Amino acid sequence: MTDPSPFAESEIADLRADTPGTEHVLHFNNAGAALPPKPVVDAQVRHIRRESEIGGYEAKDEAEGQLQHTYQAIATMLGCETGEIALMQNATRAWDMAFYGFPFEHDDRILISRSAYASNYIAALQVAERTGATIDVIPSTQSGAVDVEGLEAMMDERVAMIALTHVPTNGGLVNPAAEVGAVARRWEVPYLLDACQSAGQMPLDAERIGCTMLSATGRKYLRGPRGTGFLYVDDAWIGRITPPLLDLHAATWTGPDSYDIRPDATRFETFETYVGGMVGLGVAVQYALDLGLDAIYARLQDLASSLRRRLSEVNGVTVHDAGSERCGITTFSAEQLDAEDIKAGLRARDVNVSVSSPPSTLLDATARNLPTLVRASVHYYNTPDEIDAFIDHLTAILRDPS
Ligand SMILES: Cc1ncc(COP(=O)(O)O)c(C=O)c1O
Repeated sequence: MTDPSPFAESEIADLRADTPGTEHVLHFNNAGAALPPKPVVDAQVRHIRRESEIGGYEAKDEAEGQLQHTYQAIATMLGCETGEIALMQNATRAWDMAFYGFPFEHDDRILISRSAYASNYIAALQVAERTGATIDVIPSTQSGAVDVEGLEAMMDERVAMIALTHVPTNGGLVNPAAEVGAVARRWEVPYLLDACQSAGQMPLDAERIGCTMLSATGRKYLRGPRGTGFLYVDDAWIGRITPPLLDLHAATWTGPDSYDIRPDATRFETFETYVGGMVGLGVAVQYALDLGLDAIYARLQDLASSLRRRLSEVNGVTVHDAGSERCGITTFSAEQLDAEDIKAGLRARDVNVSVSSPPSTLLDATARNLPTLVRASVHYYNTPDEIDAFIDHLTAILRDPS
């Protein structure tokens, strides 16, 4: 197979040389946690070393410029202001801090996509239980994407939030986030976008998408450190969302009966944080920006569509990705062997994938009657040769399942 554009072969070779993990594993688990590039690891290690040399607080003071760079890099990626970004420990808490911050009431309706991630839906169930608000699932089109006309038809003055998963955990589907944003804007309803799997895969302009809030993680397609993430909140909404948890960083204790909450998005943060990770996150975001998210997305889509085509030619294998626009995530099942065994067989050959089980996306898995799936997710540093090798490994495992 030839290498797809827009990166020259020599550029991919350089990117792989900058990614030590590619020497050890065939990594198709980028939707789990991508292999970080050297500069990201170096930035973290440097910071941890400084913590050990001069002290954690002192090292943080020294890293202030790098931390500011992290806010700036994320703001550049999203086309927003630095004051609209909170640095978080993962995507789930980012989503939670926004979601639980809304004063939902008894008659409110929360509209949520069928591809919702379990953690988000569980939080919505808890809020519905506590407040009496109703959760309504937005219908999907034949392709499995969120049905924008169906959403429009559901809208009324009781809708208190639209929550969309941009790219679900269980497949290559890319939901039409900007079309949903247009509906949210028309109705002036807050729109919370889970961009956990899309951040780092594709351009994400918050203004163009029209989301009020956006949550993402560092370790997946952004190739950042584990234990990092971020939340974007539109400036116009920050003052209307009360963080469900506060500490002395998010707020200032001003008197025996009073406190002031920070005016910007840092109201959603905590004092204690993984500083080395946040520094590394900024380096990772910059790395993606320097390569260009349009170019990254084009290559990912090319690689993933060849992988899907090759998988569909393997005897007994069914590819399950929904949607007409698809990204770097591919999911499949095989008649011969269940997903966990395929994952284990591949792991024994230094090939990394993950599995996606129905409870992680219960509504979608039920609607499409999905079994537990193997999730093979490519990144731009993967190659057509790796796809060939992957198919060879998989075929060998399925031929001799013992
Ligand atoms: C679509 C989606 N949303 C949210 C999350 C949660 O991200 P985190 O583990 O960083 O909290 C995931 C994780 O796999 C995900 O796939």
